Amino acid sequence: MSTTFNPQAVLVTGGAGFIGSNFINHFIKDHPDVRVINLDLLTYAGNLENLSHIENNARYRFVKGDICDAGLVASLLEEETIDAVVHFAAESHVDRSILGPELFVRTNVLGTQVLLEESRKYWLKKIVDPFRYIQVSTDEVYGSLGKNGFFTEETPLAANSPYSASKAGADLLVRAYHETYGFPAITTRCSNNYGPCQFPEKLVPLLIHNILSGKPLPVYGDGKNIRDWLHVRDHSLALATVLKNGATGEVYNIGGNNEWQNIDIVNLVCNLLDRKLDKAQGTSNSLITFVKDRPGHDLRYAIDAAKIKCQLGWEPSYTFENGIDETIDWYLANQEWVNKVTSGAYLDYYRNMYEGRE
Ligand code: NAD
Ligand code: TYD
Repeated sequence: MSTTFNPQAVLVTGGAGFIGSNFINHFIKDHPDVRVINLDLLTYAGNLENLSHIENNARYRFVKGDICDAGLVASLLEEETIDAVVHFAAESHVDRSILGPELFVRTNVLGTQVLLEESRKYWLKKIVDPFRYIQVSTDEVYGSLGKNGFFTEETPLAANSPYSASKAGADLLVRAYHETYGFPAITTRCSNNYGPCQFPEKLVPLLIHNILSGKPLPVYGDGKNIRDWLHVRDHSLALATVLKNGATGEVYNIGGNNEWQNIDIVNLVCNLLDRKLDKAQGTSNSLITFVKDRPGHDLRYAIDAAKIKCQLGWEPSYTFENGIDETIDWYLANQEWVNKVTSGAYLDYYRNMYEGRE
């Protein structure tokens, strides 16, 4: 068993997004000595309001910038004596990748390569020792399962969407940097996350948002595709565990042991919202609309998370029933957040708060 790594200064990329902001909010509280530097380009998916509780924390710094900007990455690593990189920044939505793959290659493949290369050059200078790089990846790189079986860390990569192909390309670069240069990188591959602050283009927040606005609930194909669902808080804790105790060169799958057919999730969210909004059961279900299937729609994802449980002692703590209930409550209490991210008004917030302050 290797000794625990206690990072002092963590560069988080994409920390204004859904998972990155959840990770930073908790990591900075759970680790009272750690500094966090958040490098985020603030695309449509990035929202600094997700981090409003810590924006004045002396151990937190936000930098608006692009992971493809090698000079910026290099200067941040040295200036902040970074000893760990946790790389979330990405284009993350499959449907958008089908409409326009190019940006996914730029951000997810080229961006990762720039980050790896600048981190490697910095690591070689031995300004800090040890140094760790965590690549936050996805189970989608493994392609699709049939009705049976699970993805293990040994499952061959067989990505089917431009999104997952770009993530797989990035994962292979991470592997190559470890194999070729001995660069101390670790890759994690998680299942579908849900929880607070998720942009309402992904299934769970889209359902909640559309029910509240009385809009149709689009179900792709027959609704029988299966995903494994992981609460974002469980994911954040898993990443902290991997950062501190994971072995370099390894891949760790992170799953929720929680498989659901899409249509069952749609019905669950409808029923819960009917109850919470005092509507007759079945009211929200009437919004369900089966639509043309997503091209190349993977049938099933399911993760075997035995490695991270046996080797690092992590397992999910949320039940889906509790997690989804809590998530719906968060969206009900934060409708202003949804309105802002969907209208682009949060950009005004950013300008008021940060422009001219850098
Ligand atoms: P997200 O889309 O909510 O956030 C992505 C963040 O990256 C945004 O804040 C955006 O501004 C930032 N960003 C985009 N391009 C950038 C660039 N060039 N430079 C700097 N910042 C940039 O994504 P998410 O759902 O939080 O996912 C985070 C990571 O986890 C991604 O790498 C994704 O592939 C992976 N992942 C997500 C899920 C999921 O269910 N959401 C599942 C598995 C893996
Ligand atoms: P999504 O949240 O986009 O995540 P991913 O494609 O990365 O798994 O979609 C989750 C599942 O829900 C996926 O099988 C596609 C399906 N889906 C719909 O049926 N309707 C929708 O409007 C969306 C966004 C997704």
